[in-house]
Amino acid sequence: MSAGSEKNIYLIGISGSGKSTVGEALASQLDWQFIDLDERIEYMTHQTIRRIFEEEGEEAFRMYEKAALMSTEKLRKTVVACGGGIILLPEIRQWLKKQATVWLQVSSDEAISRLGAEIKERPLLAAEGNPETTLRNILAERKPYYTAAAKYQVKTDNVDPMDVAFNIQMEMGFISDFDPSGFDDLFTKDDDDDEF
Ligand code: S3P
Repeated sequence: MSAGSEKNIYLIGISGSGKSTVGEALASQLDWQFIDLDERIEYMTHQTIRRIFEEEGEEAFRMYEKAALMSTEKLRKTVVACGGGIILLPEIRQWLKKQATVWLQVSSDEAISRLGAEIKERPLLAAEGNPETTLRNILAERKPYYTAAAKYQVKTDNVDPMDVAFNIQMEMGFISDFDPSGFDDLFTKDDDDDEF
């Protein structure tokens, strides 16, 4: 993707990888719009994700997810945060590979700590057994799928979401090189400010 492109950016990764937080940061840095695909599914179906899983099951959810994803195709200048399981259907992996798709890499420990008590709110993680163990297993299973679907990859462990967003811009060539010397004035210490 070349600098200045208006094609959408799709963020993928396991729950807790920071897709929504980084997506909002990236959209604001680029002055683009931001869409959370789970919210779009809820808007389109008038149902919560939890209810879809409970009443119609995962297979139905994946179909809604695919429809919601495809509905973003006509948009431009949009950062889309996808649900963690978006990569499960082979045809979606192939489609994502042709887009500006970024995999937000996270260790399972970090994802678990970011999710905190919210881990029990994710239908797939809370379905059976221990949600932490389920997340570890799901991440291990899905890694090859994230690799197959993504054009770009960024690390997120111990990286501030604003910096992750900035790194995505660097990866994609939106920012060619960052030369901090041009910003010397911003960081010059004023000796009169000793009391601070
Ligand atoms: C899912 C992740 C969720 C949501 C749904 C299924 C998954 O999104 O789409 O509960 O299969 O991993 P987040 O990745 O935003 O938690």
